[in-house]
Amino acid sequence: MSYQVEHAEGLLSFLRFGRNRLHFVAGMARRGIDVSALRMGSKRIYVINHPDLIRDVLVTHESSFTKGAGLEAMKPIFGEGLLTSEGELHGSQRRLVQPVFQHGRIARFGATMVQCAEAHQQRWADGQQVAMDLEMMQLSLRVLGLTLLGADSDGADKNVSQALILAYSLFTGFNPMVALFAPARKRFERRAAFVRSQVDRVLTKVIDEHRRNPEAYSDVLSMLLESFGDSMPEHQLRDEVLTLFLAGYGTSSIALTWAWFLLALHPDVGRRMQAELDAVLGKSLPTFEHLPQLEYTGWVFREVLRLYPPAWMIAREPIAPYMLGEIAVPAGSMITMSSYATQRDSRFWQKPEDFDPERWQPVGQRSRPQFAYFPFGAASRSCMGEHFAIMQGVLVLATLAQQWSPALLDGQQVELRPQITLRPKESIHFSLKRR
Ligand code: HEM
Repeated sequence: MSYQVEHAEGLLSFLRFGRNRLHFVAGMARRGIDVSALRMGSKRIYVINHPDLIRDVLVTHESSFTKGAGLEAMKPIFGEGLLTSEGELHGSQRRLVQPVFQHGRIARFGATMVQCAEAHQQRWADGQQVAMDLEMMQLSLRVLGLTLLGADSDGADKNVSQALILAYSLFTGFNPMVALFAPARKRFERRAAFVRSQVDRVLTKVIDEHRRNPEAYSDVLSMLLESFGDSMPEHQLRDEVLTLFLAGYGTSSIALTWAWFLLALHPDVGRRMQAELDAVLGKSLPTFEHLPQLEYTGWVFREVLRLYPPAWMIAREPIAPYMLGEIAVPAGSMITMSSYATQRDSRFWQKPEDFDPERWQPVGQRSRPQFAYFPFGAASRSCMGEHFAIMQGVLVLATLAQQWSPALLDGQQVELRPQITLRPKESIHFSLKRR
C-alpha cells in the first residue's frame, strides 16, 4: 500500500505543528494526507492519519514503542501509574488492575453514577442558566471520588477532591512539547513536586482509612486492597489511583459536555433519544441492567466520541528504527496520531461532519476500517476505563435527559482548546429546560 506523505523541514514546520496541533491534523485529514514527516535538525515528528498505520503502531508492532518523551515528562505528577509506566512494570500492573475494570465488576458503580446524576439534577431549576462544562466536571468529580476512593466531594471529603483537582489542573495544562525544552521541563517538575506532596498526604490518609475499616468501602481502592493487600507497595497504589482519577476526570466530563452541545444543536436526535428513554425506563431511573436496551443512547455517546474525542491525540516513540509504510523512522522520533482527525476523514466516513448516531447501526460498521475510530486507543495501552466511561456516559445522559432538554444560549462562539483533552476555549452556557 502506498501512502500520501508530505515532508516539511525546519523550525517553521515544528512551530506550525506545536502552535496549533489540532489545526494541523485536521488539515491533514481534509487534504487526505496519511503521513506528515516533520524534521528539525535531529528531531523528527511523524503525524499519521491512516487506519492501517495506526493499527500497525498501536497493535501489530506495539512492543516496538514506548509512549515517548511527552508522557515520560509527566512522571513527576503521575509517578509510575498505568498511563506513564512502561515495560514489565506496566505489564504486571495492568494485569493486576484490569480485572477490577471488567464489565461485570464495575456494574456496582452504575447505581452511584445514577444517584450522583439524580442528586445533581435536583439542584437544577427550569430556565436556569448554567456553564455545562462546569456542571459536568462537578458531577464527574463526585462520581469518580465515590467510585475510586469512597470520597464524597459534596460531603465531608472536600480536601480529597481539592488535592485531586490541583493535580488535574497541572496535568491538563501540560503541553507535550515541554518535553523537548529543558527550562520548561524544569519549571513543570518543580510545580509537580509540590502538587504531588499535597496529593500523597491526602491519599495516604484515604488508604489508611480503607485499611482500618475495610467493610465501610466498596470502591476501586477497596477492590485493589482486597485483591493485593500489602503486596502492591503503597507508593504504587497511590500512583495508580491518582492516575485513574486524572485519566478519567477530564475525559468523561468533557465527553458529557460535548454530548449536551451536540444534542442541543440536533434536537431531532435529542427527541429520538428521549423517546427511547421513555419507552425503556418510563418514569424509573436507569440501571446497569437497562444498558443493553438503551441502544440509541449508546450510539449517541459513541458518535459524540467520534466528533469530539476527549483524548484526541496519542503519541508513541519507536525504541529501534521503524518502517512506517515506506518511511524509515529513526529510534527516538515521535509518532503521533489524532482520533479527532481520522474520525473526521471523508475517506473513511460518509458525511464526517454530520452528527449522525444512526451510523452506529451494526450493519454500517462493517464497511469501515477498524482503526478509523479509536477514541479509547488500542491493545495493551488501551483505556483502562473504557467500560466505566461508556457506562457513565450513557447512565448520566439517560438520567438527566429523562427530565431535561438543555438549550444552548444564543450568541456563543464555541471554539476548541486542544490541550491534553479536547475542551472548549470558554465555558458553554445552556438554559435548562424541563421536559
Ligand atoms: C470518555 C472518557 C475517556 C476517554 C475518551 C479515554 C481515552 C483514553 C485513551 C485514548 C487512552 C490511551 C492513551 C494512549 O494510548 O496513549 C486512555 C488510557 C487510559 N485511560 Fe482512559 N479515557 C476515558 C475515561 C477513562 C476513565 C473513566 C478512566 C478510569 C476511571 C480511564 C483510565 C485510563 C487509564 C488508566 C489509561 C492508561 C492505560 C494503560 O496505558 O495501560 N480513562 N484513555
